[in-house]
Amino acid sequence: MITHFYTASSLDGFIATPEHSLDWLLKQDFDLQGPMAYPDFITRMGALAMGASTYEWILRQQESWEYTQPAWVFTHRDLPVIDGADLRFARGPVADVFGDIADAAGDKDIWVVGGGDLAGQFADAGLLDEVWVQFAPVTLGSGRPLLPRALDLELLEVARNRDFVCAHHRVLKDR
Ligand SMILES: NC(=O)c1ccc[n+]([C@@H]2O[C@H](COP(=O)([O-])OP(=O)(O)OC[C@H]3O[C@@H](n4cnc5c(N)ncnc54)[C@H](OP(=O)(O)O)[C@@H]3O)[C@@H](O)[C@H]2O)c1
Repeated sequence: MITHFYTASSLDGFIATPEHSLDWLLKQDFDLQGPMAYPDFITRMGALAMGASTYEWILRQQESWEYTQPAWVFTHRDLPVIDGADLRFARGPVADVFGDIADAAGDKDIWVVGGGDLAGQFADAGLLDEVWVQFAPVTLGSGRPLLPRALDLELLEVARNRDFVCAHHRVLKDR
């Protein structure tokens, strides 16, 4: 069982605009059967973790919850619950709930959906193993950061998927 941060980013390292828009991303072309595509990735995930802004984006965009895995939402607030979603709300250090997330994942892996600082919190605790980034051919100039930490990574795999440069890394923990 390992923990992945799998996300798309602008070329200049933002995963959303300052206003939390993903319009720049959703207009890009991506082959769901192509290299490092999401459908294959998600089948290997047993539990999800996300921050409040990411959860709120899903709340705004989706009529129903698409995930079958239990999901931990990190927030200091009382957020609405989506019907049919297996949700656990958490706050504080990620290490305090990591055992529960790992138990839920079972023999599958954990996906940190976003944002970048939450992935950084997992890295701070030594609990982030792999980073997958689909770089879109766009710069945003500002926005929500990809991974605002100083980390050393090993590049495991790189591929083009239509508009995207896809890069798969392992986190080097003995920095
Ligand atoms: N490009 C992509 O593929 C992609 C993927 C995923 C997400 N996104 C987007 O990227 C943006 C990410 O937003 P973001 O940078 O604000 O990150 P985020 O992790 O989604 O949300 C950050 C918020 O989560 C809560 N939080 C984080 N860690 C916590 C902790 N340990 N304990 C309690 N609460 C905690 C805090 O909210 P409160 O204190 O207010 O509760 C914090 O302000 C969103 O717009 C999302 O839709 C893009």
